[in-house]
Amino acid sequence: MGIYSKPALFALLSVVLILAGTFVTTILPIYMPSTQPVSRYIKPYTAVELEGRDIYIREGCNNCHTQTVRPLRTEVARYGEYSKPEEFAYDRPHLWGSRRTGPDLARVGGKYPDAWHYQHLSDPASVSPVSNMPAYGWLAGRRLDTGYTFRKVSVLGYGYSRQEVTEQIDSYRVRVTAPDYPARDVRSRVTPPEFRNYLTEMDALVAYLQKLGRDVKELEQGRQVALQENESGKSEVQ
Ligand code: HEC
Repeated sequence: MGIYSKPALFALLSVVLILAGTFVTTILPIYMPSTQPVSRYIKPYTAVELEGRDIYIREGCNNCHTQTVRPLRTEVARYGEYSKPEEFAYDRPHLWGSRRTGPDLARVGGKYPDAWHYQHLSDPASVSPVSNMPAYGWLAGRRLDTGYTFRKVSVLGYGYSRQEVTEQIDSYRVRVTAPDYPARDVRSRVTPPEFRNYLTEMDALVAYLQKLGRDVKELEQGRQVALQENESGKSEVQ
C-alpha cells in the first residue's frame, strides 16, 4: 500500500510539503527585490513630509480619515483617480484606514492652497461650519523635532545622505518663513511669534498633506502622454 499505510510518514511528508509551499509563496517574496514595480513618478517623502506623516500618525488622523480611493464610481467622482498598489511603495506603515468620519485624504495634495490647511487645522469649523474635526492649532506652537529624521529616512531606505536631509529641512524652513510665502499671513496668525522663524509641527503636517496623491496625478498624466505618443507611433508605453 506504500505511503498510505504509514500515517506517521504521511503526516511528516505533508507537513514538509506545506512548509515548502509556504516558504516559496510567502517567505521568499519578502526577500525578492520587488514583486511590484514602482513607477519613476512615485517618489519617497522628503524629510519634512516624513516628519509630517509621523505627526499625522501620532495625532491619530488616520482614525477619522482613510487614504485609499476604491474603484467605485461614487468615490472616483468625489476624490479622483482610484488608488493603485504602487503608490504605497514608500508607506510604512500604510495608512489606508477603515473609518471615514472625515473624507478620504489620498488625493488631498494640491486640492487646497497651504493657507487653507493652516486655517483649517487651527480651526476646522471656520472653513467648514459643520465640521466635527478637532482643532490642532497647538501644533503651530511646537518646534519640529528633527533629531531623528536622518535615522528614520535611513531605516526606510529612502537613500538620502545626512547632508540632503539637512538641506531639505533648511530649504523648507526658508520657504515657509520667506516674506513671499503665499500662506504667510495665516501662518503668522496661527503661529506664536517665538516659533515663526522655525519649522513647526504644523508646517510639516501641511507639507505632508500637500504631498498626498500628487505623484499619482503626475503618473496619470505621464501615462496619458505615453498613450498618446504610442498611438501616434512615437514611443512605447512605460
Ligand atoms: C474626529 C474625526 C477627525 C479627526 C481625528 C481628524 N479629522 Fe480631519 N476631518 C474630519 C471631518 C469630519 C472633516 C470634514 C469637515 C472639514 O473639512 O473639517 C475633515 C476634513 C479634513 C480635511 C479636508 C479634506 C477635504 O478634502 O476637504 C483635511 C485635510 C483633514 N481633515 C486633515 C486632518 C488631519 C491632518 C488630522 C490630524 C491632525 C485630522 N484631519 C483629524 C474629521 C476628523
